Amino acid sequence: MDVVVSLCKRRGFIFQSSEIYGGIASCWDYGPLGVELKNNVKRVWWRDNVYLRPDMVGLDAAILMHPNVWKASGHLDHFTDPMVDCRACRRRFRADKLDETSWVHYCPATKGNKFDIPAGEPCKHCSARRTLCPACGKGELTPPRQFNLMFKTFMGPVEEDAAVTYLRPETAQGIFVNFDNVLQSMRLKLPFGIAQIGKSFRNEITPGNFIFRTHEFEQMEIEYFVNPNDLIDGRPADEVWHERWIEERFAWYQRYGVRRARLRLREHAREELAHYAKRTADIEYEFPMGWSELEGIANRTDFDLKQHGKTSGKALTYFDEERKTHIVPYVIEPSAGADRSVLAFLVDAYREEEVRGEKRVVLRLHTDLAPIKIAVLPLLKKRDEIVATAREIQRRLARRWMSVYDDTAAIGRLYRRQDEVGTPYCVTVDVQTVGDRDRGEAGDAKVTIRERDSMDQIRVPVAELEAVFRELLTDGVAWSTVGARFPAVKN
Ligand code: GAP
Repeated sequence: MDVVVSLCKRRGFIFQSSEIYGGIASCWDYGPLGVELKNNVKRVWWRDNVYLRPDMVGLDAAILMHPNVWKASGHLDHFTDPMVDCRACRRRFRADKLDETSWVHYCPATKGNKFDIPAGEPCKHCSARRTLCPACGKGELTPPRQFNLMFKTFMGPVEEDAAVTYLRPETAQGIFVNFDNVLQSMRLKLPFGIAQIGKSFRNEITPGNFIFRTHEFEQMEIEYFVNPNDLIDGRPADEVWHERWIEERFAWYQRYGVRRARLRLREHAREELAHYAKRTADIEYEFPMGWSELEGIANRTDFDLKQHGKTSGKALTYFDEERKTHIVPYVIEPSAGADRSVLAFLVDAYREEEVRGEKRVVLRLHTDLAPIKIAVLPLLKKRDEIVATAREIQRRLARRWMSVYDDTAAIGRLYRRQDEVGTPYCVTVDVQTVGDRDRGEAGDAKVTIRERDSMDQIRVPVAELEAVFRELLTDGVAWSTVGARFPAVKN
């Protein structure tokens, strides 16, 4: 993880928030390349789940909602974690996760020597197990008490109980309370889904692991409504749709390059299920700190629509034409984190390779996700015609694709820099492109395109560049197919 965190800072992906003031724990800012990567993750998610599906529509609800939303949803009463405090160092821990972290121990059998002991293991010298604070190794821990994870705030100028509201801890509730608005305005028929991307906030007791668990994060959520009375191949429709969504979401990460071996499905045990869930399966990724949740896919039944119907007095129902009756739909909820997805895509793409005896760091990001699609590089920055041609090419390409011009180093180093941030294609303008006026030599008006992963190079007429990149970046045609049409250049 340290290597990825360091690359993210060095190359402008992700910075510690408020760093010049010493930083603020578990808050991160996306830099110039990070914002492109995260926007690309959100864009492909939206494209695949909204534009490419006739049964889905989008929504963007407000972060601040009526406080009764959180009463009805159960968040006020149930959205809690058991928390303990250290009486000495005042650090705070989740009681249910205490044995999942390493612990500090001053061992009486070795004259009080300090040891850092792996999670869940006893001391090798005195066989003691952890009872004190795992961080300082000295303080007693308080008994567990329930701690609500919602951020509380006040609406308006008066800080009184009547003005209390919350920053939403999930985007889902914005969809449930708008169920009828969307249903009526869009004249939808079951089954259909509503997708939303937006910020959520949780006062996590133990945030950490870079952008994996933070207080402020973005979710990409779908609430997919089905008629629970329908049968598909003799099985309840909600159960079949749940399985379809698990398969679809599992395939989605692989479609954008995540290796199959680093993904797995974890079924929630009955006692672990959220209060609203009939069944939940998590897609887990093998992050550097171990297998952890990337996305949860829950069958939330009719819990939320019923609760909001009851609390607001406005029934959130659907008229079943076939059975001539009003029903409350069941909901399948694929709920992904945009930041967690960014982390998985980054970690999975990161490679260290050896090329001609030298180390090459490369982010093998899918072209749809790469922050910069094309870097245009002049071979010699002292030749005005080369620089002018390269700048003009970059300006033209930038109308369609995120592209940059860079002349701040020699070509080999420029290639390495682009590899390190995952740029799939570099275009190099050289003397051959523009010719040599002093010698009376005309240019060939061709440039070299270098592909990141294979490092193969081809020579392409400038006039055909946009058509070539349309195939590669927009139509998804493979490099091997496009490259085969043009002469190869030795690198
Ligand atoms: N509406 C259901 C829901 O919110 P969740 O499992 O609590 O379910 C869904 O969250 C996803 O949101 C997680 O799989 C994760 O990707 C992301 N997420 C949750 N808490 C997060 C946090 N503190 N920091 C970053 N991402 C988080």
